[in-house]
Amino acid sequence: MEKTALVTGASGGIGGAIAKRLHEMGYDLILMYGSNDAGISALTESLNSPKNVESIRCDFRDSRDMDSVSRRIAANHKNIEVIIHAAGISRRELFHEMQPEDFEDLVSVNIKSLYYITRSLIPDMVEKGTGDIISISSIWGSRAASMEVAYAMTKGAMEQFTRGLAAELSHMGVRVNAIAPGGIDTEILSNLSISEKDEFLSDIPFKRLGRPDEIADLVEFLLKKGRYMTGQVITLDGGYTL
Ligand SMILES: NC(=O)c1ccc[n+]([C@@H]2O[C@H](COP(=O)([O-])OP(=O)(O)OC[C@H]3O[C@@H](n4cnc5c(N)ncnc54)[C@H](OP(=O)(O)O)[C@@H]3O)[C@@H](O)[C@H]2O)c1
Repeated sequence: MEKTALVTGASGGIGGAIAKRLHEMGYDLILMYGSNDAGISALTESLNSPKNVESIRCDFRDSRDMDSVSRRIAANHKNIEVIIHAAGISRRELFHEMQPEDFEDLVSVNIKSLYYITRSLIPDMVEKGTGDIISISSIWGSRAASMEVAYAMTKGAMEQFTRGLAAELSHMGVRVNAIAPGGIDTEILSNLSISEKDEFLSDIPFKRLGRPDEIADLVEFLLKKGRYMTGQVITLDGGYTL
């Protein structure tokens, strides 16, 4: 049976780069995205053999939709070995000024989606005794993040999910890890002004943003070489948090 990887946020910079790498590694793909049809088409067309690639549009702000789509994927695909959770949104504003609907969206897209998708797919992984779940967290998942308090809350929750689920599933052959990037050159950073971006860059010892393919390198490492690793959150930030 072919091995399949499911990638959320596949229309985005990091999810797209990881999806591409997984395809090169021989995985069939289920690409989940929110609304960027053009982005997902461009990604699919860039793949060498797009025939074993399925794209699924699902707005993670809608819990009922997430639940039914996740159940349908689990019913139709019995060979998902890898889940990459790269969907995410961020907001920069004072915590007390954030509107409840924006807070709800952050929690739904960044975290609730992880609950719905993994709860549907874990049973098959456990039955087969193999599986990898890798989430894209952030350096703000474990550090103080002024102006991004709610975003950091979701990433902190993701990191506790990673450690707890790893403990729960390690004896069943399922590994759970997370990557905590610093600044990576994707669309999500467009919420920084030019001066904020310059200030951020000057604080990075490498003096550049990371590239999405550098996150894909780490995913490939985890899947191929990191077989004895679970419950880890790996920082990839050009030295920013040193
Ligand atoms: N880039 C960075 O500097 C950085 C640093 C640390 C952590 N991260 C994390 O890395 C992950 C990927 O970010 P990125 O840099 O690749 O950003 P991106 O290019 O903006 O991609 C975000 C992805 O999330 C999806 N998404 C957004 N809203 C959604 C919704 N309502 N329903 C379903 N999917 C939705 C987007 O899909 P559509 O566009 O199709 O809606 C897109 O595929 C995020 O979790 C982010 O927090 C990024």
